[in-house]
Amino acid sequence: MRQFAITAAVCAAITAGSAAASPPTAAPTPPMGWNSWNHFAAKIDDATVRAQADAMVASGMRDAGYRYINIDDTWEGERDKDGVIHPNAKFPDMKALADYVHAKGLKLGIYSSPGPKTCAGYEGSYGHEAQDAKTYAQWGIDYLKYDLCSLGDRMRTAGGLDKAHEMELEAYRKMDAALKATGRPIVYSLCQYGVAAVWRWGDDVGGNLWRTTGDITDKYARMIQIGFGQAGLSKYAKPGRWNDPDMLEVGNGGMNAGEYRTHMSLWAILAAPLLAGNDLTKMSSETLSILTNREVVAIDQDPLGRQGDRVQAEGPLEVWARPLKGGARAVGLFNTADFPNYIEIDYAKLGVKGPAKTRDIWAAKDLGKMTRYRAQVPGHSVVLLRVG
Ligand code: GLA
Repeated sequence: MRQFAITAAVCAAITAGSAAASPPTAAPTPPMGWNSWNHFAAKIDDATVRAQADAMVASGMRDAGYRYINIDDTWEGERDKDGVIHPNAKFPDMKALADYVHAKGLKLGIYSSPGPKTCAGYEGSYGHEAQDAKTYAQWGIDYLKYDLCSLGDRMRTAGGLDKAHEMELEAYRKMDAALKATGRPIVYSLCQYGVAAVWRWGDDVGGNLWRTTGDITDKYARMIQIGFGQAGLSKYAKPGRWNDPDMLEVGNGGMNAGEYRTHMSLWAILAAPLLAGNDLTKMSSETLSILTNREVVAIDQDPLGRQGDRVQAEGPLEVWARPLKGGARAVGLFNTADFPNYIEIDYAKLGVKGPAKTRDIWAAKDLGKMTRYRAQVPGHSVVLLRVG
């Protein structure tokens, strides 16, 4: 009995000690979830968020790994006389909403700006950072997207690039400290469109992820411009620190299936956050199968946490690869022409030696062992391989 009591006490002390020494790493793999902006923009409210949370569970997306339900801009109301932020009439009770989302095994995200106004002109956190972080923690918020916007306007009159940059660093650090001071693990997402090569310092100001580009749209040309524009950024990503080429447009209707498979494959190779941006209550089975393909999601979430990069490019034909835990590679053969093309990859270029097992992931087909592979790729489409 006595022996047991001592053991339990020692055990508790060790647990408490280790929790204090190493707080849980937020976003050990790229965050997965849903965000309101791409589909709903300002037409987002409490009932819609609850419906998306319901659909995330019912559709099987939660079981495929999607966890965050993120409210983007336009939830913000007024500050009261003490400066405390309140949601507007579209969100009557944020704490109750967080409880609802948590009860489904999901997490809730929110949005603000380091400037006085958000991009849609709502109340930002400028001068209220600590207070807002505390409010978010009290509500039960698990994720904050912090969008530059009106601070960017102030930076423009700050007197030169260096001054502007200092201002930005200070603003992002301030909110990082405020979030940490709450004691609640809150994923910290920087949104400033890639200004001043954020991938070099996003880590330094506490970001778990940082947007590397301007806004995505539901168009193939814009999606590949952003995706292929990530070349050279792989060395800045690691567990807990991710490049963010913006949220998914899969299922929003502006691209065909091959284009959406391109989107999903490229984002998985890029170790990008997978934040679905469609209406989950009205998904086609094709959309769902693209978003939840287990092998593609596993590439994105690979525990090694190494982002992929461009291996080969010939005009409209690109090959990108990502190293995976255990030595295999995820390889995307992308054809951006609007007619079919052959794309060939020599495995030596991937750093893979000898004949290697090859699987076509979207076709769910093992192709055998080889040292190079030549695939016919339809226009605006992709062949995604697992090699090794
Ligand atoms: C910016 C961001 C978008 C979205 C809107 C909201 O444009 O880049 O992702 O958050 O603001 O106003």
